Amino acid sequence: MNGTEFLRQLEEECLERMAGWRQRDAQRLTPDQAPQAWEKYERLRRSCWTEAWSVPVLGSWLETIPDTNLRMGVARQVADEAKHFLRIRSLLQTEGEYQEDYAPYAEWRNVYRYIEELGDFLDRLSGHNFASELVAIENQKHYRHRLGGAWKDLFEEFHPDEEFHVRLGRTAIQLFANDAASQQRVRRTVFKVLDLHERSRQAFNRLAAEHAAAEPATRL
Ligand SMILES: [Fe+2]
Ligand SMILES: [Fe+2]
Repeated sequence: MNGTEFLRQLEEECLERMAGWRQRDAQRLTPDQAPQAWEKYERLRRSCWTEAWSVPVLGSWLETIPDTNLRMGVARQVADEAKHFLRIRSLLQTEGEYQEDYAPYAEWRNVYRYIEELGDFLDRLSGHNFASELVAIENQKHYRHRLGGAWKDLFEEFHPDEEFHVRLGRTAIQLFANDAASQQRVRRTVFKVLDLHERSRQAFNRLAAEHAAAEPATRL
């Protein structure tokens, strides 16, 4: 099958899998409820960390991207992620919640360590831009309204940028995953990223259960 048909099937499978995650999350999250303080700031610091992570990593990929439009697109993305980092950090600082030495829990870092180790531009753009950014967009869709206020506005403002980043991943797959061997590799990378995100999500839900057991619910 060609790259376009391959992408269509792949995206359908990915969205189906993510819908399954949300069903499980729904057991602990009420869709319209504001998050507890620990959850809110853990997620926001995690976002801030990830934006900062992506700038040098994606920057180092530029010279390996053979397609000019994709290379310029990823260059724009590097600037977008730098802007996202600065805006999230600034709002965290305003709220007195920024931690310079923050590092996310191990399962979250594992996702990005795996992406960092991908050695080929198609694997990188499939694993990061397509798979991981698709997970981020789906999470934000179901999460930002729970944050409300300035945070909701900020993530709504970032949304078109993040859509653009996923589109770069889709374009790379359409253009370069045109034979059985490359499609097999892309599938392996994409589903490995989804597996790692699923493990990270399970770890986050365990963290939530520990907080729920340790303290009475104090919602913002
Ligand atoms: Fe971003
Ligand atoms: Fe992004």
